[in-house]
Amino acid sequence: IRYQVYYLEKCGSTQDVARELAEKGAPEGVVVVAEEQENGRGRLGRRWFSGRGGLWFTVVLRPKPDALGLLSLGVGVAVGRVLRGLGLSVGLKWPNDVLVDGRKAGGILVEGFTVPGDGIVALVGVGLNVNNELPPGLAEVSVALREVVGARLSRLQLFLKLLREIDNVYLQLIEGRGEVILEEWRRLSVTLGKTVKIITADGEYIGVAVDVGPLGELYIDIGDGIRAFYAGDVVHVR
Ligand code: BTN
Repeated sequence: IRYQVYYLEKCGSTQDVARELAEKGAPEGVVVVAEEQENGRGRLGRRWFSGRGGLWFTVVLRPKPDALGLLSLGVGVAVGRVLRGLGLSVGLKWPNDVLVDGRKAGGILVEGFTVPGDGIVALVGVGLNVNNELPPGLAEVSVALREVVGARLSRLQLFLKLLREIDNVYLQLIEGRGEVILEEWRRLSVTLGKTVKIITADGEYIGVAVDVGPLGELYIDIGDGIRAFYAGDVVHVR
């Protein structure tokens, strides 16, 4: 990927800025990074707290359809590699919560759309709590890397490492080596083998999470068979 970085002091959401650029034809590799987002968003329409001191960015990619399915698990793997490189104990919770010491340090949001005549665009959003403060209500489930490491971290260094690793993973996906990425995801996973409750648009299911597949889907043994889930919210039951 040939990266081209747009740095903003403040914006609503880097996803929206990136989308506008992509709609105007921005090439793959355009990255929007902001010190602060006033309207950061997470999966399932949630709000994503994005105060100063964190790392909030979106990468514009233009993948072939077959690389799209694993993009979000793949970017989780990329973030996992970088944090492990810092000596942190990383876990990935399906689909792509990044946990450090069991608490959520980051999240990934992939939004895809098609531009008529211009193929698929994937907006890969990465949010990582680095040196930022977390709102009181989030402190139990979330964590900033600074708290774990006991010192402030260089966001620039982290950012560069993340871009490099996202590039590595993306290459692997494009070259059809998705299975390698899946295998790495399985190793980092805190979801597989656990009894989980999944909350989806058409109801809740409980079962043992048994595997992930090439579209990023989660397989859960719900008792009367194994069922694939492509979206939803997973709660670890025990
Ligand atoms: C999640 O865990 O729900 C995903 C969170 C993704 C947050 C990032 S921060 C950069 C980009 N801009 C946004 O508004 N969201 C993503």
